[in-house]
Amino acid sequence: MGKKLEDIQTTFYFCDGESCRKNGSESAIREARAYLRNTGQWDDNHSIKTRCNGRCENGPTWIVQPGNHWYKDVNASNAIEIVKAHVEQNQPLESELLYKDGWNATTCEKNKPESFIKPFELFEETDGSNWWRTRGLSSDQRLYPLFKKWLGDLGDSTSDYKLDTQKDKESANAGSFTSQSGKTHHHSQLIKVEYTDPQFIELQFKTDTERVMVGACEKNSPENLLKIRKTYYAISEDLSEMQITFENYLGEFLGKLCFSNEDFWKYCLEIQLDGMKMEVPVV
Ligand code: FES
Repeated sequence: MGKKLEDIQTTFYFCDGESCRKNGSESAIREARAYLRNTGQWDDNHSIKTRCNGRCENGPTWIVQPGNHWYKDVNASNAIEIVKAHVEQNQPLESELLYKDGWNATTCEKNKPESFIKPFELFEETDGSNWWRTRGLSSDQRLYPLFKKWLGDLGDSTSDYKLDTQKDKESANAGSFTSQSGKTHHHSQLIKVEYTDPQFIELQFKTDTERVMVGACEKNSPENLLKIRKTYYAISEDLSEMQITFENYLGEFLGKLCFSNEDFWKYCLEIQLDGMKMEVPVV
């Protein structure tokens, strides 16, 4: 039976994202839940495991409501003290806080840097061509919006690829997706981008569906070789062509978007590359 929500005093949001798990979040969560169970406080309080809370640099993180209390570096030792403070004293454990409502700054030195993105560097492709290239981020929270953007704004995906109309020309500029197997699909064939599977984004083309893996997976599992862990944004030296290349952790090819649409490139710079300013002229 579900909890009686009207009885809940405190809700704990335990981050169970990849970075926090690497830093031992599971053992802290187990201690906290065991304490709530064994002290008869389980029914009056609620705990939820979340995906990434967006502060990996401070992980493992917890958020406790009410009060929007954020905790940093939670571990098996301080977990119970934090729980006790909230459920038994109705106050936060100030010494462990990262942030709470009313503060105008966090307590942490390790504040998030403005961006992890490095400047573009000249890079020589295997065919000898030169590209300005930088590495973007590869989480599903980046790549699903990227494919949605590529689907959404660029041309008419209901007509076959012909250069007859303005829309078709835009779609031609929107380029193509080449899958790991080497099959290339033009943008005009793209009907839908779906992310309902826990691990794969599906690119539904008129005649085919391609899948790219972006969800969490175990480092030692066979699927790990399919997971996109490196995403490179590149523009040709003459600034006429752009490409986004996806690779696994070994640097093996998993897919590529090629395009020449300036607006989509500007979107990449602004949204995917955190407002990156290129050292070369922006097209
Ligand atoms: S994985 Fe926990 S804050 Fe990112």
